[in-house]
Amino acid sequence: MKPALFSGIQPTGRLHIGNYLGALKNFVDLQDSGKYDCYFFVVDLHSLTEPFDPKEKPGHILGLASDFLAVGLDPKRSTIALQSQVPAHSELTWILNTITPMGEMERMTQFKDKSVRQQENVNVGLFDYPVLMAADILLYNTAVVPVGDDQLQHLELARTLARKFNARFGETFVEPKALLTKTSRVMSLKDPTKKMSKSQPEGCLFLDDTAEEIRAKVARAVTDSGSEIVYDPVKKPGLSNLLEIYAALSGAEPQAVAKKFTGEQYSALKQQLAELVAAHFAEFRTRKKALLAKPSSLIKTLNDGSARATKIAEKKMMEVKERIGLAL
Ligand code: ADP
Ligand code: TRP
Repeated sequence: MKPALFSGIQPTGRLHIGNYLGALKNFVDLQDSGKYDCYFFVVDLHSLTEPFDPKEKPGHILGLASDFLAVGLDPKRSTIALQSQVPAHSELTWILNTITPMGEMERMTQFKDKSVRQQENVNVGLFDYPVLMAADILLYNTAVVPVGDDQLQHLELARTLARKFNARFGETFVEPKALLTKTSRVMSLKDPTKKMSKSQPEGCLFLDDTAEEIRAKVARAVTDSGSEIVYDPVKKPGLSNLLEIYAALSGAEPQAVAKKFTGEQYSALKQQLAELVAAHFAEFRTRKKALLAKPSSLIKTLNDGSARATKIAEKKMMEVKERIGLAL
């Protein structure tokens, strides 16, 4: 049996090129490697912890499902599912809550950051977010979890809870390991000192932006003073971010890309980068459009994947209930 691999993304809006290079591209490569039994989830329950409009939620869920498929995740080879359709995730969360030390939760930096960002909505779900994430992972005997470094603290909690549960109730869970993504952070086009994030849409290149939108955004991207094209993330963060995006999409190193543009103006790099991005996602845009035109088939994909996941998750829940004395 292949080791299980689990990852999830919240359905909170359109994906940008940071999400692609930091997460999705890696998901596809890992699936295609054939080395893992892959689970990719639309984690809709996690997304309820941030302010949202219920009218927008179905669109966000189907949008993300279409992103998964359009980049190349394949429901025949990977289990692609919707978290809320697999009740075991909520059930295991509660049980894990009862062995989770408050102290560990109070140290979570993402909770602290988000509590400042959404002061009007510091809910218990936001605090408990890492335990739901641990439940996601532990239900499938997950061996590896591809995540960005911002999720390492959450993954550490999943490991701690697996160890704790096993020590107290007997061997039940596999301790998961992080698989860090190679691509470093993609920075905002408007402010290269900040990461590209949907909370600042002006600085994002969205995967479904049209070629014209991409050209306009890249042309307006903040670059540094001077005119020489060199890769220097400290002195020239804006230019270096563009070189990194170019490099990641063309499979080269940023230094090599800088060399290719030696003696050229910033505008030449920007023009070619815009064409590269537009071409790279042209097929994605076409596929996404076709997928969204048939929402019923997207829903079926999620239903089928969730049904498959439910079988595995329910088996694990039975095991858990036996261990803690709830299986009568
Ligand atoms: P956002 O910051 O836009 O809200 P999310 O937090 O929903 O993005 O992130 C979804 C996934 O994309 C995560 O795996 C995260 O590590 C990755 N990711 C988000 N922004 C970037 C970025 N700028 N560079 C690289 N990876 C990113
Ligand atoms: N918390 C993750 C993020 O914000 C999303 C997520 C939820 C996840 N459950 C997961 C990632 C399980 C990996 C494994 O990016």
